[in-house]
Amino acid sequence: MTVKISSTELRVGMYLHKLGGSWLKHPFLRNRFLLEDQNDIKRIIQAGIKEAWIDESRGLARELKQDTEQDQEQIDEPTTEELLAEKVKEEPVGSIEEEIQRARKFCNQAKEQVKEMFNEVRMGQSIDSEKIVPIVGEIETLVQRNASAILSVARLKTHDDYTYMHSIAVCALMISLAHHLKLDEEKTRLAGIGGLMHDLGKALMPADILQKPGKLTDAEFVTVKKHPKAGATVLQQNGAELAVVDIALHHHEKVNGSGYPDGLAGDEISLLSRMAAICDVYDAVTSERPYKKAWEPAAALQAMAKWEGHFDKKIFATFVKSVGIYPVGALVRLSNKRLAVVVEPNASSLLKPKVKAFFSITAKAAIPVKVIDLAAASCQVTIEGPENSDKWGFKELERFWQ
Ligand SMILES: [Fe+2]
Repeated sequence: MTVKISSTELRVGMYLHKLGGSWLKHPFLRNRFLLEDQNDIKRIIQAGIKEAWIDESRGLARELKQDTEQDQEQIDEPTTEELLAEKVKEEPVGSIEEEIQRARKFCNQAKEQVKEMFNEVRMGQSIDSEKIVPIVGEIETLVQRNASAILSVARLKTHDDYTYMHSIAVCALMISLAHHLKLDEEKTRLAGIGGLMHDLGKALMPADILQKPGKLTDAEFVTVKKHPKAGATVLQQNGAELAVVDIALHHHEKVNGSGYPDGLAGDEISLLSRMAAICDVYDAVTSERPYKKAWEPAAALQAMAKWEGHFDKKIFATFVKSVGIYPVGALVRLSNKRLAVVVEPNASSLLKPKVKAFFSITAKAAIPVKVIDLAAASCQVTIEGPENSDKWGFKELERFWQ
């Protein structure tokens, strides 16, 4: 049974079912877990959370007091989504194909919830953080299970779901980067929430400008540049933490001080906002838009590395490791004159992923698809470099890895 108790009554061994108050201020990514550390209880109290629900069938029951009236309340049964999310956490990690399927299912569901959040903001309503922040927890679980799977799926966008999938993608990139930077759980949580919320201010920008299928005029660009401040204001009004507000406000700053809205430079930009600047641009350039083709991930990383003064170099170097030079879906040219699509990155050797070769460059013709593990000891084939799918007129390369 689930009962509501005061946070001060929490004890190690209790199973936390839900925390009271705004999710945007919670110290954990997950609502539900077994309290095993006294410090976690301290963090709940320090975060100003007054109430918590515990599941007495999964952990210690509350200590009954004779002299006070127990505040007992049965709460709603978990939703199907919540049960699914718990199951995802507990299931053993599957093959890359299975994890891609899992990530796809999740993204289809989550993008609808992100869309709702944008609509709520557009209509001047408050953000239903109960629905939104658990998404960040699920994304973290997916990143932990197989970062390549969720990052590759989130890169695929359509014209209609661009903004929502971009939010999910930046959230996943931020969490993966936070893991590689070895940030603690609290910073990782803030990185994820900030990633999901970074462009919320776009909900308040005129739709015709955001969806314009061409280059923006100077005047239109001036308008769009207002989205960081608009987003930060909305988040502040919704009680988001300072670090999350800061990501929304400063994800377009550049380390040389030429960014907007405040022209901050170097360390004046918070670590999380410097991370967000990289994740945001990478996802934007590797996604297809009405007015431009998607860049191949490796080509995007190469180009971004050359943009002097734009990004924090140290963070960028770690970012490259976190996404991999040749992530799932990247088109590459092999030394045996074949074109191939990366189907599984190799964590210990970024240049030797598993690929599916499907096209002969010399014969200029499709060949029977062959899986090649470039890291296999017997394999003589290497990657010569990234290839541009447009140059070859290839369509739907996703079929090789989805
Ligand atoms: Fe933005």
